[in-house]
Amino acid sequence: MALVAPAAPRTPAPISPDELERIRAPFRQATLLPARAYHDQAVYDWEVEEIFLRDWIAVGRAEEVPEPGSFVLRELFGENVILVRGRDGVIRAFYNVCRHRGTAVEERECGRAVRFQCPYHAWIYDLDGHLVRAKHTEDLEDFTFEGFGLAGIRCEVWGGFVFLCFAGEDLTPPLREYLGDWFDHHAGFGRDMSTLARAARLTYDVGANWKIVAENYSECYHCPPVHKLLNRLTPYDLGEDFLAEGPWKGGWMPFAEGCETMSISGTLDGRPLLYARDVNEARRIYYYILWPNLIVSVHPDYVLTHQAWPDGPDRSTVHCDLYVEADRMGAIDVSGAVEFWDLTNREDYHVVEMQQRGTRSRSWIAGRYSNQEASVHAFDIMVADRYANDGSHTVRGWRTETASDRRLVTRILGPGQQQPD
Ligand code: FES
Ligand SMILES: [Fe+2]
Repeated sequence: MALVAPAAPRTPAPISPDELERIRAPFRQATLLPARAYHDQAVYDWEVEEIFLRDWIAVGRAEEVPEPGSFVLRELFGENVILVRGRDGVIRAFYNVCRHRGTAVEERECGRAVRFQCPYHAWIYDLDGHLVRAKHTEDLEDFTFEGFGLAGIRCEVWGGFVFLCFAGEDLTPPLREYLGDWFDHHAGFGRDMSTLARAARLTYDVGANWKIVAENYSECYHCPPVHKLLNRLTPYDLGEDFLAEGPWKGGWMPFAEGCETMSISGTLDGRPLLYARDVNEARRIYYYILWPNLIVSVHPDYVLTHQAWPDGPDRSTVHCDLYVEADRMGAIDVSGAVEFWDLTNREDYHVVEMQQRGTRSRSWIAGRYSNQEASVHAFDIMVADRYANDGSHTVRGWRTETASDRRLVTRILGPGQQQPD
């Protein structure tokens, strides 16, 4: 996959080159992110500008705006955004800001609109953002309706997930190019997530940095002490990681004998299988993080997502959503799965809040990865590469080809260098 070099020099994060080098070292030598990455306001501010307002982020689902004129508002990093489906069926995103004197043009959180009419002086915008009426502007100089439409935000859809990118193509390429082999990986498993719909949502106010939530998700080293039930369903030390080239990481874990899925009973409870093509796939749970904050867990019978939305360096709002096939929604009972994940999430967020508190101590220096945490390292490498912000891309590769001894190795490529075949 060709590397994408930024069009212009970009500011690195306030993390030292030495610290980045230690994170991006080969797995057995590497150290974790430094404490400032979890606590420092300057690092957080940099992440908002250079990650969340530059990279593609998943902000919703296409089925939230099912028909032409359907819209929802999203509050994202200080920006209020309208997601709306146009008369042509295309989902678009606009800043919710009138081009006259800056008033929000829509105040309902969701609904149907024929057009957006600003409540202040009644400028009217079409669903595709074009200004179509602005009284008493006919004698203005250097003014056209074409030049005063709602400001757009790049918007693309994959698998029913609506992605936004606040940056232009000079900084961030189109979604498919940007995400690389993420698309083909899921297509290879025959997964079409566009036909799913949300059956349940759990929301948590977590006193921890968004990256601590992601790191927690990335390992099961903590499962024996933290998750008594989960650890019975999927033994913590079994499974494999995928070798990703794009900005994602993932792997799978097998279910223990007699267990079929993640639920309070450990069984499917009548839920049909989703994507499994053979008995092996039906007996695995697949775990992914798509950079920066879309966590996707493909269960035999449902898809679960977690998204940690940062509310500052030390707080996150986490949405945990459970999806099933939309056309079977009414016939599927997901209560056992929801109960299981609520229990598991609470167990996780208890320890991540304790980690957030502990890492604030002046005594703490970045620790080391156990040999069960290669996937945490894989996430931290993505963080470090973005912190460097110079287009370099640390390649993860297998140390050996034997399934029982697949350990990650790393190598840093400079801007413009190609990943080896
Ligand atoms: S601020 Fe919107 S019409 Fe005046
Ligand atoms: Fe956990």
